[in-house]
Amino acid sequence: MLSQKKILLAVTGGIAAYKALELTHLLKKQGAEVRVVMTKSATAFIQPLSFQALSGHAVHCELLDVEAENAMGHIELARWADVFLIAPATANTLAKVAHGLADDLVSTLYLAATCPVYVAPAMNHAMWNHPATQTNLKILQTHGVNLIAPEAGEQACGEVGIGRMSEPEKICHKMISHFSTPQILKNLNIVITAGATREPLDPVRYLTNRSSGKMGYALAFAAQKAGANVTLISGVTQLLQPQNCHFVQIETAEQMHTAVFEKIESCDIFIGAAAVADYRPIVCGGEKIKKNAEQITLTLQKNPDILADVAALENAPFTVGFAAETHELERYARDKLTRKKLNMIAANWVGREKGGFEHDENALDVFWQDGQKTLEMTDKSKLARQLIVLISERFYAENI
Ligand code: PMT
Repeated sequence: MLSQKKILLAVTGGIAAYKALELTHLLKKQGAEVRVVMTKSATAFIQPLSFQALSGHAVHCELLDVEAENAMGHIELARWADVFLIAPATANTLAKVAHGLADDLVSTLYLAATCPVYVAPAMNHAMWNHPATQTNLKILQTHGVNLIAPEAGEQACGEVGIGRMSEPEKICHKMISHFSTPQILKNLNIVITAGATREPLDPVRYLTNRSSGKMGYALAFAAQKAGANVTLISGVTQLLQPQNCHFVQIETAEQMHTAVFEKIESCDIFIGAAAVADYRPIVCGGEKIKKNAEQITLTLQKNPDILADVAALENAPFTVGFAAETHELERYARDKLTRKKLNMIAANWVGREKGGFEHDENALDVFWQDGQKTLEMTDKSKLARQLIVLISERFYAENI
């Protein structure tokens, strides 16, 4: 199953290092070629010789090792790998790689590697829950790093909580599914909008909405993983800018419209996940509005409908809209699908206890001309992967 796949396994210093021996054995059993590198502290737990015996190759531990560099230098090792797997990944190593430090072999390889990276963290539950570790994981997510989440249970220190490294069988299975995941959107250009627009009222105030950008960013990650070249056009969000995609920051609906149309010519699939303001204040004065009058009236001008304009192009890409509704979800979604001449629409409830704006979870009812599918409530990353699969199926069905 992993025949001839080249896996560079980095073992860092924690008690779970012993599980990396079993992992090496399992990967080899599946036919993978495994090269092992270790941090200095990992060698305090397990002898490099054990990994050498199991992998059949010399184990590299030092960055500045003339002998090792002569055999296969660190840059060469990074280029050699199809996947770079850090298991176990300590809190210290996660922090280093998240911030681009390169003071040992493992962190240097991380910077040099251009292949997909997986991390299987292992640490005490308090360290795992610490905001510093959680922030580092968020940063790593923006690098496109795949997390093999730790499990809950009794820890080596005797305490109970989340932090045990995932079992070697599970990590091996992740590697198998990595190599069997088809690049369903390989070489396709995808433009995705995300987040809320801001429509200025005066130099200090604006009209906006509750969109956090989570849904659109999750779609950008999922499309990237599926092999697409992604352009993410985003309103202002609190999210970290994803790496490995073309990122365009905008504020207003008109700016989003311009940014989309600069990219649309070479676009195969357009996904409008942004919550674009339908109206903008007709006048945005250069001075702050003073609170003298008891009542004031704002006159609003309709914004261009980006989604409808994309779908109306002569050579329109496969166009996917979203519908955010507080009532009659299906009726309004189907109306938008037809009226805006979309290929597909993903409808979600908003203003409810779960799903929609801001929440980490969401559910979608997806409609196209002669079909529909419900994607149940789950976290937005998983939901985005499901939607990307559905979009690719419909894209190929309509483009053959
Ligand atoms: O960002 P999150 O907090 O994760 O929340 C996700 C979400 C709820 C914002 C997202 O799932 C979603 O529903 N996005 C669309 C929100 C919206 O504006 O829906 P709408 O029904 O008002 O618009 C319909 C479609 O037209 C959308 O694809 C929208 O991007 C597009 N549109 C709307 C107005 C406009 N002027 N131009 C547009 O392109």
